[in-house]
Order: sequence, then C-alpha cells, then structure tokens
Amino acid sequence: MRNLIKAFVLLFLFFACGKSSNGNHFQKETLASQETYAARRYEMVHLQIQQRGVKDSLVLAAMRKVPRHEFVSETMKNLAYSDQPLPIGENQTISQPYIVAFMTECLGLKGGEKVLEIGTGSGYQAAVLAEIVKQVYSIEIIASLGLAADKKLKSLGYHNIQVKIGDGYLGWPEQAPFDGIIVTAAPDHIPQPLVDQLKIGGKMIIPVGDYFQELIQVTKKADGSIKKKSVLPVVFVPMTGKAQKK
Ligand SMILES: C[S@@+](CC[C@H](N)C(=O)[O-])C[C@H]1O[C@@H](n2cnc3c(N)ncnc32)[C@H](O)[C@@H]1O
Repeated sequence: MRNLIKAFVLLFLFFACGKSSNGNHFQKETLASQETYAARRYEMVHLQIQQRGVKDSLVLAAMRKVPRHEFVSETMKNLAYSDQPLPIGENQTISQPYIVAFMTECLGLKGGEKVLEIGTGSGYQAAVLAEIVKQVYSIEIIASLGLAADKKLKSLGYHNIQVKIGDGYLGWPEQAPFDGIIVTAAPDHIPQPLVDQLKIGGKMIIPVGDYFQELIQVTKKADGSIKKKSVLPVVFVPMTGKAQKK
C-alpha cells in the first residue's frame, strides 16, 4: 500500500512538473530532483559567492534562481553547482559561478537596463542577466553553441534575450547604445566598437590579456573617454575573430 501511494505521488510530481510556469519546457526531472538542485544552488550562492564578498541583492537572487544544471550536458549535471568552470563542447566553458556573479555585480545594474553580452557560450550568463534587466543581447561566434543556447533559453522561458551568431568584437551597433556590456572571452585590448556602443555612465566588464589576464571594469565618462579599473586576475578563453587579427 505504501509503495502504491509512493508511486501515485511520484506520478503526480512528474506531471505537475511537466510544464514550467513560463513556457512549454517539458522537464524530465521530478520535483525531488529539482529541490535537490535548488538546495545546491542556495548553498553555492552562500558558500562560493556571498562569502567571497558579492553583495548585490539582484545578483544573488538571480544566481539563486537560474537552473545552472540546465546549461550543461547530462554528464556534467552533478557538477553544475561546484566551484569551477565546466566544459560545454567546442573547447569552450561555462564560467565558474563566482565569476558570473562577480562580473554581473561589476555592471552595477538596477533593473530595466539593456545589456550586451559577448560570448553566449551555454547561455547561462545571459539567463542570469535576463533575471535582472529588461533586455539582453548576446553574441556567440561559434554557431553550434549560439544556436543551442538560443534553443535552451527559449525552452526555459527567457524571452528577453536575443542571441546572434557573429563576431562580438564588433558589438551590435543596430541595438546600441547599451547600459552595460559584459565580455566573457579575452581579447588583448579593449575593442573600440564596444566602447563606442556603451552609454555615457554605462559600465563594461571585460577580461583583457593573453597568458595573464585582468578583469577590467570600464566606465564611460560624459566626454566619451573611459575610466579603467583592474578588479581581478582571471583566466578566460581567448576572444577569437577580429580580436586576433589586429
Ligand atoms: C567562457 S565562454 C562563455 C561562457 C558563457 N558566457 C556562459 O555563460 O556559458 C566564452 C565564449 O566566447 C565565445 N567567443 C570567443 N570569441 C568570440 C567573439 N569574437 N565573438 C563572440 N563570441 C566569442 C566562445 O566561443 C565561447 O563560447
């Protein structure tokens, strides 16, 4: 009898979870495994992110909400909330959770902004941004990754993200200016088109360098010039395309 009740509960949970509240994403997970992932996510935010000094409540809420395990392959799901970057195919990675949170905080977002991301990768960083701002534009140079991320984001109900396949060095002039720009692949200099597409008062966060890279927070001043602040030593994949042809 107990087993029968258990089977009914599982069946109920399976169907109850079949549709997400914001889309038609069919989730194969039971409520129990979703709760396990949520618990891991809360722990990740507490231990890896808050304890390292990230304070922005909008960023912390977004990091608690976005299901990171949805952005990695089946074999990596168990590691989705661990303190490391993970492979996503094509020799690329989804960044370490702390770095995603730290970079997002560096943009100083308040909600309602229009943000550009260079390096869509898995789509995870774009989803974190989309929880905070009004509209996210994201550019990925590897078509297979960009297309997969776009599909994943739509299936999870993120309709305020536009993904484009192309070279992010050039930015997205048709949608400029942006309140914030986040770059998740490292060029050896700050691309001028991205500076041009940043609003006055807007912030860009970008890893710059070859072997040794620094995360630079760029603020655009009223006269169009920029203020640069080095905020963290980092290791990112190189920015390919035009960045390497200069
Ligand atoms: C560290 S991964 C990005 C992780 C991603 N933000 C995420 O949340 O999964 C860097 C990405 O930048 C992409 N990339 C490299 N050079 C690029 C360029 N010039 N334009 C656009 N994307 C580029 C890579 O293909 C890779 O997917």
